Amino acid sequence: MESPFKSDVLKGKVALLTGGGSGIGFEISTQFGKHGASVAIMGRRRNVLDDAVFALTSLGIPAVGFEGDVRNLEDAKRVVEATVRHFGKLDILVNAAAGNFLVAAEDLSPNGFKTVMDIDSVGTFTMCHEALKYLKKDGPGKASSTGAGGLILNISATLHYTASWYQIHVSAAKAAIDALTRNLALEWGTDYDIRVNGIAPGPIGDTAGLSKLLPDEIGNKTRDYMPLYKLGEKWDIAMAAVYLASDAGKYINGSILPVDGGLWLSHPRH
Ligand code: HXC
Repeated sequence: MESPFKSDVLKGKVALLTGGGSGIGFEISTQFGKHGASVAIMGRRRNVLDDAVFALTSLGIPAVGFEGDVRNLEDAKRVVEATVRHFGKLDILVNAAAGNFLVAAEDLSPNGFKTVMDIDSVGTFTMCHEALKYLKKDGPGKASSTGAGGLILNISATLHYTASWYQIHVSAAKAAIDALTRNLALEWGTDYDIRVNGIAPGPIGDTAGLSKLLPDEIGNKTRDYMPLYKLGEKWDIAMAAVYLASDAGKYINGSILPVDGGLWLSHPRH
């Protein structure tokens, strides 16, 4: 689907995306590139990165892939620095890396819980922390309304707005991400003109998350009470990201935008 945004809304921006080589992260990488940004992607699998970089550069998008695990502080530091060395600066950090599996709470080991917290929540904080010095543009006390400061976009979910079966670890991890978004928006928005926002995707077709979480038989039942009677597309999330990253979003800070067709607040008819 064609983008409703002009192709230069992110012109000159440099973005680093964790999990940017596959799924929702890759679609955001692609759309950022199509709207003028240069894109660095971070992931654990070299072959996934290589394929993604090839696809992006084939579209004429300046792109580079760096291998790394967001759970590893040294990896985070190295990838942020390599991005700045490669493109000369960093304007946008997107935290899209995530881990997930369906498991009943009583069968989930504490290490399984910790693993998802480490990837999603601690990983997001670590990346934000390492990127901070490059995202600062105007320096302390010089907040402007020009959108000149850096931007952080954290991808969470809507699972934790209520409660979700067999997702206690992910609900906790995504709730923590939303807390990071709000707290960093307050501190870094005020001090450094860095906007920190979140996107909370609903069920998005053709993603690892969906095939893990919504097997076909559950999918059909769920569609009965989905307000828009369809799954979202990765494109829907990427368009929200382009909007928030562009100057159109310059007054938006600390917001978490659900992009789920209203699913989280719906109930079956009776
Ligand atoms: C129960 C499990 C498990 C499972 C792993 N564990 N898989 N427990 N059921 N299916 C437990 C292990 O037993 C172990 O605990 C601990 O978790 C660590 O497992 P490892 O396999 O060593 O972890 P690792 O190799 O680091 O892999 C991380 C992972 C994996 C999260 C388990 O699935 C992964 O790498 N995923 C990345 C890709 C991904 O999932 N993307 C989808 C994101 S979708 P013990 O106690 O045995 O040592 C998404 C959508 C969110 O985030 C919501 C949408 C609505």
